Amino acid sequence: MGIRIIGTGKYVPPKVLTNHDLEKMVETNDEWIRSRTGIIERRIVEGDIAASDLATEASKIAIEKAGLKPEDIDAIICATITPDMVFPATAYLIADKLGIKRPGFDLNAACSGFVYSSALAYSMLKTGIFKNILVIGSEVLSKIVDWQDRNTCVLFGDGAGAAIYTIDNSESDILAIELGGDGGCADLLYMPAGGSKMPASEETVKNRLHFIKMNGRETFKMAVRMMTESVEKVIQKANIKKEDIKLVIPHQANIRIIDAIAEYLGVRREEKVFVNLDKYGNTSAASIPIALDEAISQGKINRGDIVILVAFGGGFSWGAIALRY
Ligand SMILES: CC(C)(COP(=O)(O)OP(=O)(O)OC[C@H]1O[C@@H](n2cnc3c(N)ncnc32)[C@H](O)[C@@H]1OP(=O)(O)O)[C@@H](O)C(=O)NCCC(=O)NCCS
Repeated sequence: MGIRIIGTGKYVPPKVLTNHDLEKMVETNDEWIRSRTGIIERRIVEGDIAASDLATEASKIAIEKAGLKPEDIDAIICATITPDMVFPATAYLIADKLGIKRPGFDLNAACSGFVYSSALAYSMLKTGIFKNILVIGSEVLSKIVDWQDRNTCVLFGDGAGAAIYTIDNSESDILAIELGGDGGCADLLYMPAGGSKMPASEETVKNRLHFIKMNGRETFKMAVRMMTESVEKVIQKANIKKEDIKLVIPHQANIRIIDAIAEYLGVRREEKVFVNLDKYGNTSAASIPIALDEAISQGKINRGDIVILVAFGGGFSWGAIALRY
């Protein structure tokens, strides 16, 4: 029995925020953002749209493409660092919006959330707990980005991607999983306030502590190192060669990080590495499932192809999955 992705979907909010728009908000410019990150524009929600709203839209598409009905979904895992609220988990709100009552939970591994959630879905399917698991990455980062901080606000965007994993006797399977983490780096990329350590107060709001804080340079170095190492290890575990890989779908944070992965693989980026961060920026846990859906829609992945998903994010967390689609 193998694990197979039977449907994917994505949803991004319609409002586009370009680098030129950002020039009017902070001291930055299109040339700087493009050359340092590869990002040209990103999508931003309006009003009270929350992570569950984006997730529900992406999920509906994934369910339809899988040829299923919402009732066929046995459980929901929602990877997010921007849940609708601290509790209940966004997964229940999504289930309710899909019109079903199902078990589910949110998973916080920041930008590695979809890779971690997929690993978990794999285990739950292999042990026979469930048959169809809806795995979602959904983020409304625009609500935790400090729009006065040019070091971070140019990087992030909103969106959701969804995939349905099932277990059946097809040739498809997850070939290897490689996960890593280092809590010693927690304060290099984090949101200081709003949790039990520093609950919301007048002070935390005044000091802008409910926003993403990041040491960009250190994060960049670790991302390059751990993403290339993860790809190397997952290739070894899966007992495949670099040449066997049809497509690498990396977390979309920075084009220079993605180029380092292409360099490690010894390929031109255009050949084997999927990129869409120019359109969406860094959407954290949503970036890989959005990219996966686009890669499949564009015919860049076909049944039987070997695909690598690789991520890095706050925690620090990182990981890679090798799968036969
Ligand atoms: C954030 C990032 C793009 C910055 O690129 P960089 O080449 O490292 O740039 P530096 O941090 O060295 O900053 C260079 C200069 O540009 C300035 N700068 C920062 N943001 C800027 C902006 N939006 N526009 C213009 N200038 C900016 C800095 O203040 C600095 O100026 P200084 O030299 O006068 O101090 C890069 O570090 C990065 O991508 N890091 C990883 C981020 C990431 O992926 N996070 C999520 C991981 S999941």
